[in-house]
Amino acid sequence: MRKQIAAANWKMNLTLQEGEQLLEDIISLPHQLSENQEAVFAVPAPYLMMAQQKLRGKENFSVAAQNCYSKKNGAYTGEISVDILGSIDVHYVVLGHSERREYFNESNAFLAEKINICLLNNITPIFCCGEPLAIREAGTQNEYVAKQLQESLYHLNADQLLKIVIAYEPIWAIGTGKTASSAQAQEMHAAIREQLASKYGKETADCISILYGGSVKSSNAAEIFAQPDVDGGLVGGASLVANEFVAIINALKK
Ligand code: 13P
Repeated sequence: MRKQIAAANWKMNLTLQEGEQLLEDIISLPHQLSENQEAVFAVPAPYLMMAQQKLRGKENFSVAAQNCYSKKNGAYTGEISVDILGSIDVHYVVLGHSERREYFNESNAFLAEKINICLLNNITPIFCCGEPLAIREAGTQNEYVAKQLQESLYHLNADQLLKIVIAYEPIWAIGTGKTASSAQAQEMHAAIREQLASKYGKETADCISILYGGSVKSSNAAEIFAQPDVDGGLVGGASLVANEFVAIINALKK
């Protein structure tokens, strides 16, 4: 069975002390994570080591960076390399979030470079894709997302692709309280899997975890996660509240 993942994206929220408290509260609440399930916390960069320390020894809990740079090292003030992440034992990174695409002009081609350096250095990218409202209204979301996948991922071979997690996040559902319906999520996840299958074969496509993101909360997580092609979620706002996020973890498909 594919890995089921509940990933928290704290974005640029919480102080260090608030983040510590949140993690403590989350791990103290009852949660069930089976062998093929994982809770991942994408925290602000200065909190990565704190989060590592808080989650040390907790099976199926991992820490992720929210971004990394495409170069191995050098004069890139303010950036974080995969070597820096590896040196503090961080092995997940969120890449291509729509906020980075929009506010920091990250292109599909630039993201392909980041994907490459992650894979070369044993870091699993959580690759985000998803369409803006105008594209959804025009009904061309499948083509739009297919292009994102094609330009950032399709240079990889199947073995490399298997090391990637995909997060489908329709931009119109991010932070808006407007969730895609479970049917809309399933439809797009199935379309993404079909696109991957046409390039890499069904067997490979069936092994890729595809997370849904966009206003996931405890009240809708179980229904969305129950869809056959949805393998968990990437959660913003609701991941900042301990009992909300624990309920989301517990809503993962068994
Ligand atoms: P919200 O859950 O706040 O809509 O954010 C989703 C998201 O962008 C996760 O990366």
